[in-house]
Amino acid sequence: MHLLSDFDLTRNEIDGILDLSEKIKADPAKYGDAMKNKTLIMLFELASLRTRISFEAGMNLMGGHAIFYSIEGGNFTRSETLEDGIKNLNKYVNCIMARVLKQEDIERIGSAATIPVINGMTEVYHPCQNLADLLTIKEYKGKLEGLKIAYVGDGGCNTANSTMIGCSSMGMGVTVVCPDHPKYSPSHEILAKIEEHNGSEITVSHDPVSGVAGADVIYTDVWVSAGMEEEKKKRMEAFPPFQVNTKLVSKAKPDCIVMNTHNKVDLAKQPIVMHCLPAHRGYEITDEVMDSPYSVVFEQAGNRMWAQMGLLLWLQD
Ligand code: CP
Repeated sequence: MHLLSDFDLTRNEIDGILDLSEKIKADPAKYGDAMKNKTLIMLFELASLRTRISFEAGMNLMGGHAIFYSIEGGNFTRSETLEDGIKNLNKYVNCIMARVLKQEDIERIGSAATIPVINGMTEVYHPCQNLADLLTIKEYKGKLEGLKIAYVGDGGCNTANSTMIGCSSMGMGVTVVCPDHPKYSPSHEILAKIEEHNGSEITVSHDPVSGVAGADVIYTDVWVSAGMEEEKKKRMEAFPPFQVNTKLVSKAKPDCIVMNTHNKVDLAKQPIVMHCLPAHRGYEITDEVMDSPYSVVFEQAGNRMWAQMGLLLWLQD
């Protein structure tokens, strides 16, 4: 089985991966040999801190090994096609994780692979991020079903897509809070596929204040994703009203106080603030929110490793 997009997983399957991730996190030593003599190849067409290190460290913790390999322009070195390269890798390793620019390239990798393939992010999906996000939300809130997540910012990006699919699959209500522009809103195609996948309707709001009202989770990501640099000027004009700042966070729950690092907040009841990272402080999120007691962004980043360890083991079964 492959994880090429979030649509590859049912609610039961996500539950299984999260259960396994929680067990590994609670007692990593018990899984110290779980990937013994197993090798993960990590193909990267785009830079990474979290994805690369969390996969490699996770494999090490389970007694396995990870190899980094850089690819460019959808090809291996000396223009060897993706398919031919993968047919070689099938003979050497047990699993492939690839961060490629185009979703069609991860699909090509999946078609040529006889071993599990994991999407480490494309321009359309970021499923490993969502698994870590769900693990984090479950840790702080004790459940997923019935919670509301407000995704604030670029509603058309890969992280927004994966958030909508994964969170709605788990019975969460999802509101995408974004500028009123087709490029910055969820595509009709994704919304229709979600309805077909798990029967959920995603709410789209262009008003930040009403969009975050009642949110248990406020999520944001960069306004200019990789590959969108030529749109930077227009995006910088459209997105400032959607900045996650103290004023916006205070609108989520009636007793949500303006924060400082000394406030004690009950994160089971108050909103948590999440970010896929890297963050551009002062743009999509302020320092004040990022460093507040509501922010769980570094715990979320840490959970990339535990969630992916669960995924790697689950895919080997
Ligand atoms: N969130 C995330 O995927 O981070 P990296 O780009 O550093 O891997």
